Amino acid sequence: MDPWLSEDRDRLPALLEAVSAYAASYLDQVGTARVAAPPADVPPSSLPATGLGAERAFERFKTCVAPSLAASAGPRHLGFVTGGATPAAVIGDWLVSVFDQNPISQLDGSTALRLERETVDMLRSLFGLPEQFLGTFVSGATMSNFVGLALAREWLGRQQGVRISEEGVGALRGMTILSASPHSSATKALSMLGLGRRSWQEVECLPGREAMDRAALDRRLAKNAGSTVVIASAGTVNTGDFDDFQELVRLKDKYGFWLHIDAAFGGFASLSPLLQPLVEGWQCADSICIDLHKWLNVPYDSGIAFTRHRDLQVDVFSNVSPYLGQVAADPEPIHLAPENSHRWRALPAWFALTAYGRDGYREIVERDCRLARKLGERIQHSTLFDLLAPVRLNIVCFATKHRGDCHRLIQGVRDGGGTFVTPTVLHQAPAIRAAFSNWRTSEGDLEIVWESLVKGAQKLTANA
Ligand SMILES: Cc1ncc(COP(=O)(O)O)c(C=O)c1O
Repeated sequence: MDPWLSEDRDRLPALLEAVSAYAASYLDQVGTARVAAPPADVPPSSLPATGLGAERAFERFKTCVAPSLAASAGPRHLGFVTGGATPAAVIGDWLVSVFDQNPISQLDGSTALRLERETVDMLRSLFGLPEQFLGTFVSGATMSNFVGLALAREWLGRQQGVRISEEGVGALRGMTILSASPHSSATKALSMLGLGRRSWQEVECLPGREAMDRAALDRRLAKNAGSTVVIASAGTVNTGDFDDFQELVRLKDKYGFWLHIDAAFGGFASLSPLLQPLVEGWQCADSICIDLHKWLNVPYDSGIAFTRHRDLQVDVFSNVSPYLGQVAADPEPIHLAPENSHRWRALPAWFALTAYGRDGYREIVERDCRLARKLGERIQHSTLFDLLAPVRLNIVCFATKHRGDCHRLIQGVRDGGGTFVTPTVLHQAPAIRAAFSNWRTSEGDLEIVWESLVKGAQKLTANA
């Protein structure tokens, strides 16, 4: 055995204690840390012939890596849709590494898989989805969209009397995929599925919105009767807009299409009685994508794919081999997901749900949405910015008065360290998005965010 391996094994309790103290002090200041990372000027790592041992590797991490990490776990990182990690989720995630389970079967008697199933049940209950929904852990919303659309592809084949999982996409005789504002990960999934990134047709949006125009969708469906998939949004990434699922369900009853909903973060609206109407009707979807490393605030990577079509899921993803056992009536995740071996993602989610429950998560969602609305109101009444869309959930989409300044504002604000927001393009013009999805974010943080934005915009005006 490598001498460092045996030394590290013997010193593990002391090493873990040192790491634990360091982690606690980092998390203690993540709320006040500079949000975006300062430029790094460190030599790149290279593979040593003889190792350094865990303690020196840790020292190197502290001096060379950590100082230039973004405070993405903190409360004012409003870029992308970034969740943090609740205390219980961090504990759960640490224990994932300690126990290092591979919940692919129960052949070794481990209860890891049972806990994974129980956690799926807890999540289904949290989101208020009916029992018919089967949930499968995946690495995030991209893979969740992939799973949902893989099942849609299999269903399209069934409509035509072919099994795509056996015969391949070449056997598919025509299909229609309709969407208004799909997330880029959904079109990426179409590429990965061999259907093609450009295989979808754009349905017109309601005026000034990112949500589908129902009448336009009806016209498209009437023209394309037969094998059709509709990709709908519960929370578009630009403006947090929602398709009207009750309308979609009425159309689904009329035309019989596959309804996939990307609810990566918007699915969390179901946690609050105030916001739940946004997702009303989603329980009639065929497949639903929800991210967990966003608003559930568990560490990366974690998402869940819900579907009511277990048979199609087994057709697409079953992984049959004598050494793995047979596909049971209640199939193991290896027969339901793209991955075979996988991290015990359920444990951080289980810890977090057990620690904070339905009420704890409802409070996080409602607080984040309240803060987003407040930021939206300030922007609306400001002479420095334009609010580009009503704040329906947790995303504030806005722009500098001079639209061409958006990128410079984002850079200036990032360099100031008070907050971090990300750019986008809305209705062909530059825009800025701020997404609230961290469990720590408070009224005090909102003040710092606002101050950073105002200072950034004033600087631009002064330099104009
Ligand atoms: C609506 C939506 N769908 C899918 C994704 C992709 O998520 P992930 O990065 O977890 O794959 C995102 C990410 O922000 C999103 O907002």
